[in-house]
Amino acid sequence: MKRTAINLLIIIISIAILPRISSAQNNSISHKVDSVLNLMTLQEKIGQLNQYNDDLYATGPVTVDANKIAQIKRGELGSILNSQGTTRTTGWQNIAMQSRLKIPLLFGQDVVHGYKTTFPIPLAESCSWDLDLMEKSARIAATEASAGGIHWTFAPMVDIARDPRWGRVMEGAGEDTYLGSRIAYARVKGFQGEIPGATNSVMACAKHYAAYGAAVGGRDYNSVDMSERQLFEYYLPPFKAALDANVSTFMNAFNDLNGVPATGNKYLQRDILKGLWNFQGFVVSDWASVGGMITHGYVKNEYEAALAAITAGCDMDMESRCYKNNLAQLVQDGKVPVALIDDAVRRILRKKFELGLFDDPYKFSNSERETEALNNPEHAKTAREIAAKSIVLLKNENNLLPLSKKLKTIAFIGPLVKAVKQNKGFWDVEVPDTDSNFIVSQWEGLTDKLGKNTNLLYAEGCKVQGEDRSGFEEAVNVAKQADVVILSIGELRDMSGEARSRSNINIPGVQEELLKAILATGKPVVVLINAGRPLIFDYTAENATAILYTWWLGSEAGNAIADVLFGDVNPSAKITMTFPRSVGQIPIYYNHFNTGNPPKDDNDRFYRSAYIDLSIYPKYEFGYGLSYTSFKYSNLQLSKKKMKAGESIQVSVTITNTGKYEGEEIVQLYLRDKAASVVRPVKELRDFKKLNLKAGESKTIQFIIDKEKLSFFNQQLQWVAEPGEFDLMIGASSRDIKLNDSFELID
Ligand code: BGC
Repeated sequence: MKRTAINLLIIIISIAILPRISSAQNNSISHKVDSVLNLMTLQEKIGQLNQYNDDLYATGPVTVDANKIAQIKRGELGSILNSQGTTRTTGWQNIAMQSRLKIPLLFGQDVVHGYKTTFPIPLAESCSWDLDLMEKSARIAATEASAGGIHWTFAPMVDIARDPRWGRVMEGAGEDTYLGSRIAYARVKGFQGEIPGATNSVMACAKHYAAYGAAVGGRDYNSVDMSERQLFEYYLPPFKAALDANVSTFMNAFNDLNGVPATGNKYLQRDILKGLWNFQGFVVSDWASVGGMITHGYVKNEYEAALAAITAGCDMDMESRCYKNNLAQLVQDGKVPVALIDDAVRRILRKKFELGLFDDPYKFSNSERETEALNNPEHAKTAREIAAKSIVLLKNENNLLPLSKKLKTIAFIGPLVKAVKQNKGFWDVEVPDTDSNFIVSQWEGLTDKLGKNTNLLYAEGCKVQGEDRSGFEEAVNVAKQADVVILSIGELRDMSGEARSRSNINIPGVQEELLKAILATGKPVVVLINAGRPLIFDYTAENATAILYTWWLGSEAGNAIADVLFGDVNPSAKITMTFPRSVGQIPIYYNHFNTGNPPKDDNDRFYRSAYIDLSIYPKYEFGYGLSYTSFKYSNLQLSKKKMKAGESIQVSVTITNTGKYEGEEIVQLYLRDKAASVVRPVKELRDFKKLNLKAGESKTIQFIIDKEKLSFFNQQLQWVAEPGEFDLMIGASSRDIKLNDSFELID
């Protein structure tokens, strides 16, 4: 029953009509794979399942290996991670070419939000809701990385995340499954490009499979316990969307899911991914997560860890050595059939063939192409564009923003004003010799924007962390001389990211105190908040004159911030994660259930599903973000009020730019299923459109409601749309619903 239902879902939501390998090509690759496989010894086969870290730097605890080179020569290594650049990758490949069968190595790296050109952290980018631009930024990252010999990125990270304490929220697309799935699809397309094996593309990797984002308490690597319905409905669809975009690989995860570590989880990998979803690519473990199952208490030694992982469907062992040291013995002991090893090897060899590495192992390492790709001014332009579109305007009292370029004196204060590398955020790539001078600091961005007639003053004020207030006085003096103060505060870039969970997500140190001291001068203050996650900043929210949430914007941060501050770009981003008022509200997300006892409003909290000492509302809700202009929503029309399952309803709505500036609006369509066999969220994003409008301009846009948009997983895990009434809401955010109506699905 369950299997049929999920198969049905696959058919229903398989929307990808992407250029894939044709079946003739496929047969010929299978043939080639088999012919190589037939020549391989067991030791060589196991070697293909083995991935080591290069010696440049590490993204996890390294196993020191004195004889890596000898192992490669013996054909005992399939892939290297964290290698970089033509010289280095060519060097390793030369060694692999000395092995008996000359099977080329695969080079993988975390090209998460850019390579040399760093784009905004993925969470920031997701706030642009601009799928084309996100695809483009992934495309550029692929172009730069692949020219230096990288074949494979460990991205996109598609984990749904509802807890901002978790440091890795910076790496994903936020809390919403629908939006997250569309972004996953776009990013995979961007990384992989249209032609398999093209030298300006890299294989993508959907990670971390699965449910890693639901770690209890937001503590990284923590356990996850959830119902299958929740797993299927909220956490798996972005992975399925990546698969629909033809993603080459999956990475499993550090967490356990309902007591079984994801790395050794047969249900996730063999049954769902390779069985029901028919995934033909390969699965890599997370860093040493095969051996990590011993620490979990799931297996007692490396021998059992290797057995559990290979049986569960994990094809490649990243850095744990469990496969290398135990698979041969497991085969000899009759615990692992050679067929299982062959299947994993085939999957990996197939990718090497698809990339064209057997024809030319050095195909991707090309120094001319590398120089060209790393010095393409168009890349910086796109980075600047998407960075500006990722900045969220949270507050703009008295329309302080945009600032006039004619202001006489501006004070630019704060610990992050002159920071350089901080702007890159976590999971940046360090490209040797090109790095720091390639990043536009916020100070530089503003200096370049302003003419000689504006006097730009600076004071650091305080550090990001610590109690030192000794810089306050200078900052206040500088503020007093200015017409406007811009204050750049927030987290440090490595306060969010892997293993960077925080229990206190306030703006750290004395930075908000610094704001208070500056506000006492009576000057208007624009606060820039730099962060990798939604922070809590009630004082700033209530008292700053204007707030731009700038996240970590990458190499063009300074230019993009200047573009928005001075109105060359009108901000249009909307947050993709709810911002809580206090840690006590976490987990907090917009698409919650109503419960049997919901509060009506903040005056109605006793005996309700609310905290008696806390507002029921978040600080900023999912989908929220302001613009320098204003938009009117009108004329909501439905083509009909009743539809049958095979039919659809056309929804149209008119949006008018009623302000002074040209601007972009992200129009959001939410639905609520009024009564169903399992309770449905109070609202769910089911579509959106981003449109550009000149001042005074109106546009009418259309949405289509079909059965797919009304469907959900019922108790039997069937993907169904049940007849009944639905509320339709068109909003500027999940709370700011501008227009609504209802319709009925009939038998
Ligand atoms: C992370 C992965 C990453 C891998 C390789 C792990 O610690 O969880 O996301 O791809 O390291 O760097």
